[in-house]
Amino acid sequence: MYKRILDHINTAILLFNRDLVLTYINTAGEILLADSAHHLIDQTAHDLFKSSDPALLTNLKQCLSMEEPLVERSLSLNRITQSLMINLSVTPMFQGHQVSDVLLELQQVDNHLRISKEERLLTQQNTARLLVRGLAHEIKNPLGGLRGAAQLLDLELEDVELREYTRIIIAESDRLQNLMDKMLGPNKLPNKKPMNIHEVLERIRQLVQAEASGTLTIKHDYDPSIPLIQGDKDQLIQALLNIARNAAQATDCKGKVIFKTRIHRHITIGRKLYKLAAKVDIIDDGPGIDTDMINQIFYPMITGRAEGTGLGLSIAQSLINQHNGLIECNSEPGNTVFSIFLPIEPLPLNNLGDR
Ligand SMILES: Nc1ncnc2c1ncn2[C@@H]1O[C@H](COP(=O)(O)OP(=O)(O)OP(=O)(O)O)[C@@H](O)[C@H]1O
Ligand SMILES: [Mg+2]
Repeated sequence: MYKRILDHINTAILLFNRDLVLTYINTAGEILLADSAHHLIDQTAHDLFKSSDPALLTNLKQCLSMEEPLVERSLSLNRITQSLMINLSVTPMFQGHQVSDVLLELQQVDNHLRISKEERLLTQQNTARLLVRGLAHEIKNPLGGLRGAAQLLDLELEDVELREYTRIIIAESDRLQNLMDKMLGPNKLPNKKPMNIHEVLERIRQLVQAEASGTLTIKHDYDPSIPLIQGDKDQLIQALLNIARNAAQATDCKGKVIFKTRIHRHITIGRKLYKLAAKVDIIDDGPGIDTDMINQIFYPMITGRAEGTGLGLSIAQSLINQHNGLIECNSEPGNTVFSIFLPIEPLPLNNLGDR
């Protein structure tokens, strides 16, 4: 029971004996050190931290010799691929008058900063989306009236030349109506069923390939072991199609687009930690997204294309959000990657709670 609790908390817990040999590590610890308990247990703190994080080793030794707890804030922990900011606490555990074990707690700080930054961004994007929806709703009502009146007038007019004007009003109202529908965005809750993400991608591949009339190369690199995900097929087609279309358009429909899928383990989306997610990368070799634009592309009505409405990514994001997923974008000239994470495990491991 206690082991289950320890494995469900977000703080990394490591227990060392008097000789500073690791005797226990919880799941959050395995994630932080990016290795399994099986590998890590029985290694000494010296082996684990000497070359990468000498400060951690010093703290452990100091706690052992002074027999007093230590706390350190915003210490950087150097992992193979990145440097993480952590809060650290080391506590001696006594058996009688002697220290028998040392408890090390590591809490990742930048993870929380990242989450609150992500949340702030999502709230801003949602507010922008709500504004656009409200506006679209207000325009739609009188637009219906305008179109109806123009149609009646069209029937009454005998002069064919004058009718040309009413036709223009009707055609433009229809165009505006389509735009307003797009601005209103998805209006249905997803109807989730177990589905294969590769079926969705293959469908999109056909659609984008047909639109690009043969000059575009679309390659795929799928991980066939990805389990079924819970999703609304139509909504996921729409979301990923918007992203894939952008990729094709970025290359002028002449470049190379790659659809790649992988399994991604242990990911925090929103405030929830998921054990398993499907990661879909849509990669293109177009010119990339300008640095001054990249932070804005998920807002509605932001476009860099003359004929674009700037709604594609905003819609894609709101659909992926409804699937508890996440979209990330990294771009440099010749290599733009949109990564879509879709949780596979329906139940999160645990929540980060309100902090
Ligand atoms: N793969 C990409 N490469 C380069 N720029 C991109 C890419 N994807 C998106 N963008 C930029 O982000 C902008 C916003 O994309 P979004 O799909 O939201 O709108 P749009 O494509 O302009 O219009 P819409 O999709 O509504 O027709 C694009 O106009 C483009 O400038
Ligand atoms: Mg688009």
